[in-house]
Amino acid sequence: MNAILKPKTMPEVEFQPLTADWLDRVLDIENTVYPHPWSRANFEDSIKTGYQMQVLTSSDAKNADILGYFIAMKGFEEVHLLNITVSETYQRQGWAKLMLDALTVWSRGQGAAWLWLEVRGSNERAQQVYKAQGFKLVSVRQDYYPKGPKANGREDAIVMSLKL
Ligand SMILES: CC(C)(COP(=O)(O)OP(=O)(O)OC[C@H]1O[C@@H](n2cnc3c(N)ncnc32)[C@H](O)[C@@H]1OP(=O)(O)O)[C@@H](O)C(=O)NCCC(=O)NCCS
Repeated sequence: MNAILKPKTMPEVEFQPLTADWLDRVLDIENTVYPHPWSRANFEDSIKTGYQMQVLTSSDAKNADILGYFIAMKGFEEVHLLNITVSETYQRQGWAKLMLDALTVWSRGQGAAWLWLEVRGSNERAQQVYKAQGFKLVSVRQDYYPKGPKANGREDAIVMSLKL
């Protein structure tokens, strides 16, 4: 008898605007995954400013789970990625790639020629994800970020860009 191969379960997902309604749950994720999380005020200011902010959720309307979110700022012919985060439960399943693909499509639609980001020198995992997505190293900003809260000193920012 042939074995039946059961596909790995994968949630149905959708993008939704990251509005104030999502903030409590987004902050729970933010505070879990970052040693230097954005504050509620950072998110609220971004909403007020009108940045491109999306949450990626499961499509289970009754109990939608947040897989991740991203925030991007549109400039002149370029878009700057300010925050991209995948909830711990959903990491290493390709969701960051999906969000970067969505951001790329949106940025092209805005007439942008470049996508820019900065990442901590110590965040090698994120750098690897960006490189796999086609981002190239542009420059290093020395001692750009404070290391805290548990370590003293500062660390470099790696500036990367993607030609759209
Ligand atoms: C960095 C971050 C956004 C990456 O998110 P992610 O969803 O885990 O990234 P992806 O799954 O798209 O890709 C990462 C890995 O999953 C692997 N992967 C992709 N699709 C996969 C799949 N279907 N099944 C298994 N693995 C998969 C990729 O090959 C990659 O593996 P590798 O790192 O061993 O090479 C996430 O780790 C995160 O939120 N970290 C904390 C916050 C942070 O650092 N944000 C960036 C600040 S600049």
